[in-house]
Amino acid sequence: MRMYDLIYTKKLGGALSPEQIAFWVQGAADGSLPDEQSAALLMAICWRGMSTAETLALTLAMRDSGKRLDLSSIPGLKVDKHSTGGVGDKTTLILGPIVAACGVPCPMFSGRGLGHTGGTVDKFAAIPGLKVELSEAEFLRSLRETRFANSAQTADIAPADRKLYALRDITATVESIPLITASIMSKKLAGGADALVLDVKCGPSAFMKTLDEARTLAQSMVDVGRAHGMQIRALITRMDAPLGWAIGNALEVMEAVEILHGEHGDSELAQMSFRLAAEMLIMGGAANTLEQALGMVQASIQDGSALETLRRFVALNGGDALALDDFSRLPQPGQVVEVRADRDGYIAAIDGRALGILAMDLGAGRRDRNDVLDLSVGIWVHVQVGSRIEKNDILFTVYAKQGGLVPSKGYLEALQVVSGSQSVKNWLMETIGF
Ligand code: URA
Repeated sequence: MRMYDLIYTKKLGGALSPEQIAFWVQGAADGSLPDEQSAALLMAICWRGMSTAETLALTLAMRDSGKRLDLSSIPGLKVDKHSTGGVGDKTTLILGPIVAACGVPCPMFSGRGLGHTGGTVDKFAAIPGLKVELSEAEFLRSLRETRFANSAQTADIAPADRKLYALRDITATVESIPLITASIMSKKLAGGADALVLDVKCGPSAFMKTLDEARTLAQSMVDVGRAHGMQIRALITRMDAPLGWAIGNALEVMEAVEILHGEHGDSELAQMSFRLAAEMLIMGGAANTLEQALGMVQASIQDGSALETLRRFVALNGGDALALDDFSRLPQPGQVVEVRADRDGYIAAIDGRALGILAMDLGAGRRDRNDVLDLSVGIWVHVQVGSRIEKNDILFTVYAKQGGLVPSKGYLEALQVVSGSQSVKNWLMETIGF
C-alpha cells in the first residue's frame, strides 16, 4: 500500500477502504509515515469529507492505536459526558459529583484548555494538591470508592489522535466533521464507558458556529457511538455568552462549588448541568423519566451528597478538600480590578470568545501548548444577556497577576449595550438521538 495513492484517491473525492485507513493511522502513530503525507491527507479529508463508513473505520483505527480501559470490575452502567468546548464551561465539576452521588459511576477523561476555550483538567488543577493525571489503578480506585473519576487523557489512550491532532492544529485542519468525530469518539470508546451524553456547543464562541453544523456533528458522533454499541445522545446548547459568571480556573471551581451548595439554582449554568446530569442518570438506569431524574439531581444538592462526593474525590486524589469550603485556600490573584459601565442600558449580547481571549491573556489559558497557566487569574462577569445596567455599575471583576499588566481595553467592547429591554434565548437548541 502506498500513502501517495490514499492522498490521490481522497483528493479526487474517492472513498478509502478500512484497510487503507488502518494503514494510515498506524503509520502516523508509529512514525513510519512522514508528517507531510498525513498533513496532505488531512487537508484532502477537510475538503472532500468522509462517508459514514470511512468515519467509522477511522474512529476504530484510532481507538485501536492504543489501550482500551477495562471498567468491568466496576459494577453498573458507566456513564460519561463530553462537551465540544466553550468559554466558562465548568459543567463537569458540577454534574460528575451529582451523577456519582445518585449512584451512577461516572468515569471521565478531560482535556486541557487551548486558545480561548477552557479545559476541565486545568480547572481541577486549581484545587491545591489534586492529582489530575491519574494512573489506571488510581482512576479505577477513584471510580470504585467515590463513583467519580476525572483525569487527563493518558498517553496510551488513542495515541494516533494525539499525533494527528497536533498536525491538525498547525495545518488548519481541525474544523472537519469526520475528523472531529473520530478524534472525540476514538477516545471515548477507548475510555470504556457504556453510555455517553454529548454537549455539542453551538454559536460564535464554539467550534460549530451554526445549528446546521452542530446538528451534523452531533448526528455523526451519535451514529459512530451506536455502531460501536454505545448508548449515546446529544444536546445542542447555545455558546455565545460565557457559561455562568466565572472564566478562569480557581474562579470556576468556586462557581461550581456554589452551585453544588444549592446557590444560583435557576441560572443557565445550573439548569444545563442539571439537565445533562439527568440524562446521564436515565442512561445509567437510575431513573426512568426526566422528571424523576431531575428530582434525584435536586435531592443530591439539597442533602449535600453531591458536594460531599466532590470532597471525597478531591481528598482521595491528594487534593485539599478544605479548599472547597474555604476559598482562601485556592490560588489567590495578585490584584483585583473592577470594570464599570460607561452608560445605562440593557445587555443584548456578551462576546464569550473575546472574554475567553482576555482571560487567556491574563494567564488563565494557553496561547501555545507549552504555556504555563496562572490558576488564580480570570474574569468574573457580573451581567448576563437581558441584564439592566446603570452607569458605574460593576460589569466585570478582573483577577490578575501581581505586577502583571491588566489590559483595560476589550472588556466594555465585549458587551453589546442597547436602550430597550432584551429577551433571553433558551440555552437548549435541539436534542439528537433521543
Ligand atoms: N476535541 C477533540 O478532542 N478533538 C477534536 O478534533 C476537536 C475537539
